[in-house]
Amino acid sequence: MIAVILAAGKSTRMKSSTPKVLHMVADKPMLSYSIDMVKKLNPSKIILVVSSSSEKIKEAYKDSKVIFCEQKEQNGTAGAVLAAEKEIKDANESVLILCGDMPNVKYETVEEFIKNCKSDKVNFISVKVSDPSGYGRVVRDTNREVLGIVEDKDADDHIKKINEINTGIYCCKSDVLLEKLSKVDNNNSQHEYYLTDIAANSYAWLAKDEKEFSGVNDRAQLAKAAKQIWFERAEKLMKAGVSIIEPSLTYIGPDVEIEQDVTIYPNVYITGKSKICKNSSIYAGVRIEDSFIGENCTIKDNTMIEQSIVGNNCSIGPMAHMRPNSKLCGDNHVGNFVELKKGEMGRGSKAGHLTYLGDCVLGENVNVGCGTITCNYDGYNKHQTKIGDNVFIGSDTQLVAPVNVGNGVLIAAGTTVVKDVSDDAMVISRVKQTNMEGKAKAYFERKKKEKTEKAKK
Ligand code: UD1
Ligand code: CA
Repeated sequence: MIAVILAAGKSTRMKSSTPKVLHMVADKPMLSYSIDMVKKLNPSKIILVVSSSSEKIKEAYKDSKVIFCEQKEQNGTAGAVLAAEKEIKDANESVLILCGDMPNVKYETVEEFIKNCKSDKVNFISVKVSDPSGYGRVVRDTNREVLGIVEDKDADDHIKKINEINTGIYCCKSDVLLEKLSKVDNNNSQHEYYLTDIAANSYAWLAKDEKEFSGVNDRAQLAKAAKQIWFERAEKLMKAGVSIIEPSLTYIGPDVEIEQDVTIYPNVYITGKSKICKNSSIYAGVRIEDSFIGENCTIKDNTMIEQSIVGNNCSIGPMAHMRPNSKLCGDNHVGNFVELKKGEMGRGSKAGHLTYLGDCVLGENVNVGCGTITCNYDGYNKHQTKIGDNVFIGSDTQLVAPVNVGNGVLIAAGTTVVKDVSDDAMVISRVKQTNMEGKAKAYFERKKKEKTEKAKK
């Protein structure tokens, strides 16, 4: 079997500079759904029909073993299939045609359809829908035989009432297809060459679930298709032992792995190549992208984790930010308003509040006090900070990089560390404190008097 995927349309209704089929649907480009689905059917080749201005599509799929055929003029879906003629001609195989704008179609459904195809006919999938507007209607005679498909724009009021629609998935022998295509004209309201015209006296295989076949033409339909996919992924995870508080508000990407007994609260986005290990909880509003979260972790509300690694038994957030290439080795606590960037924390180290750790490596059991800052940027270059094991960093410390702090060091609160510190040293850099008895009272009285005199004037 040869598979032909149509993706050369003008995407007019998307109102976008990005081709419609490259728009993301539930964290995966729309067209990838069709390509991945078709690959499971093991076709002899996959042909992607694109327009001459589809450089972006060609670039996106250059490594995905598809054959590109260019439709020079976007004159309709029949014209699109004809653009693949040289790949179909003399093939003596079945040709499966589908559109690149149907991300909800299930592989099992298409497989079932192919099994039921009639070899001497054009076959297509039809489905009964609650709202047929916009779709081609399947017109049958009194014996329920298919007379043909009438496009919405060409339908009269009587035909518009038909609720059996063309899904846009067809299958037939290559010679039958080319013979029928040669007869298609553009005598219709849109002056296009309709692929649906090959469906006169064809066989319509009626599918069961209309939800699979909502073609995405505009952004509202895109949102609807995506919602469906996010929900299906959540359902699959729940069946596998993941607790999801509100599946309709859970957004898990296609390549994400989540282990048993993980709990996911609402409005969580987990995308890219991410993995969440068992017994971890991900609270509301968290976004995790291309990251690994170990076992027994708690990621509290509104935290963002990008391209980072979190070991077992960590607690992060609320409102923490792990920027790319950060790593927590395990048993760590990263509290509210803490930001890491290329920051590594050894086992058991903690940074509870309001801290920036950039371009740094911290050893084990380091306590980072509130308001600690690694000053990693000099306006031109980034510099490293290295901290040993068992270091206590007092609050409001600045570490001016490049700087190395040894093991067991005590840094007093308010210190600016500009020089390397050797093991077991105590560091303090602070202006000496002076207490002037009674001075505050005198000051306030003077200011009060000044204010009342000013008001009198
Ligand atoms: C099409 C069908 C309609 C069916 C509906 C299902 C036709 C004429 N109509 O309508 O019966 O109910 O799908 O969703 O086929 N394309 C090209 N080249 C072109 C025009 C379109 O490659 O010149 C591609 C598009 O990129 C798209 C697909 O063909 O992937 C379908 O085109 P679209 O304009 O979306 O057709 P619909 O109006 O949805
Ligand atoms: Ca469509």
